[in-house]
Amino acid sequence: MREPCHQLQGKRVLLGVTGSIAAYKAAEIVRQLRKMGADVQVIMTEGATKFIPELTLSTLSQRKVMIDIFDSGDEQTWTKHITLGHWADVFLIAPATAQSLAKLSHGFSDNMLTATVLASKCPILICPSMDHDMYVHGTVQSNVKRLEELGYHILPPDYGELASGLIGFGRLPELEEIFKRMTSLLTGTLHGKHALVTAGPTREPIDPVRVLTNHSTGTMGFALAQDLARRGAEVTLIAGPTLLPSPNGITRVDVTTSADMLEAVLAHKTADYIFMAAAVADYTPVETHASKITKHQSQLTLKLERTTDILSQLGKVRRSGQTLVGFAMETDSGLENAQKKLASKNLDWIVLNNIQENGAGFGTDTNRVTLISKDGGLYPLEIMPKLEVATQLIDRILANPV
Ligand code: CTP
Repeated sequence: MREPCHQLQGKRVLLGVTGSIAAYKAAEIVRQLRKMGADVQVIMTEGATKFIPELTLSTLSQRKVMIDIFDSGDEQTWTKHITLGHWADVFLIAPATAQSLAKLSHGFSDNMLTATVLASKCPILICPSMDHDMYVHGTVQSNVKRLEELGYHILPPDYGELASGLIGFGRLPELEEIFKRMTSLLTGTLHGKHALVTAGPTREPIDPVRVLTNHSTGTMGFALAQDLARRGAEVTLIAGPTLLPSPNGITRVDVTTSADMLEAVLAHKTADYIFMAAAVADYTPVETHASKITKHQSQLTLKLERTTDILSQLGKVRRSGQTLVGFAMETDSGLENAQKKLASKNLDWIVLNNIQENGAGFGTDTNRVTLISKDGGLYPLEIMPKLEVATQLIDRILANPV
């Protein structure tokens, strides 16, 4: 193992500094990152320059600080924000003001910092820092929530004495805490692994205006994709029709029918981890009418045929070393049915959902599931938000390879 003081050797860190009084701490952040071996590129907002001189940060980082999006430095190009976004292994924004949180949560790109965030492919850790009343304001909180939903990592501020003399939440956390969180993003346990996640419903067309579908919203699959990306995996998310925004740092493939999903999944069948969380239609119309079916008959019979069971196909062609996880949505004899599916589809794990339980199933923000392993292990989880469910499922699966 490397000396702890060199734990960031060779890592490329973008440090975004915005106009909060805590910006003066950026000097110490740069100094310590450099001591840990990181290559640091600082980007400041105009506001940040009122609190700490650019010269201090460029001297400590030994790189020209970027502030103006149209200043290309020595290079004869104005695409510096793109180059930097692709260069970094991690992007730390500390401190982040209410203003920058608002811009980032709405995709603004009006300065070097916000434009580089949009162009970045690496994990982004944001450390909000401001006065207590600003931080707890509804708009700031909803911006923070939206950023989290989009896959940004947020380290909330500490409680304590603030520059205003008031006491509350708003202090930039201890640098040790910031570095711990940042390092865990860089050294996620799934670096170099490919994870495939399916999410949402499928739609099977009856005619040009009608479809067969179900109530799945995709929330559970998106939460899994987000958590896998946070751990450093390269994530492919195959999503049925859903309005959910893509988590940060994943590759998303949108599909409509179960046949489309089958094709997209088989293109990635060698992934190291596969989570088949989509609610794939079991039946599809034998025939899709070319024109709209009119209501001149008193009864209408639809002829349906079975779709291909994608998960069973994966179970047949799975390679050694791969982890295959299925989901079972049951109303009766849940445990027994889930265990049968686990065996018949050749899975390592199955996640049992009971849609009749309060706070579980389709369209809820929370879920209560039981994780079942192929060697008989049963792990019931408490009811909790779906993102937390995703984290606990993945923790358990990684801790108990079967
Ligand atoms: N699944 C799939 N392809 C299908 C149907 C389901 O890959 N055509 C996957 C789902 O993504 C899920 C698992 O199979 O991971 C279980 O799906 P579920 O609908 O609960 O069970 P089925 O096996 O379809 O059985 P039944 O509907 O009879 O309960």
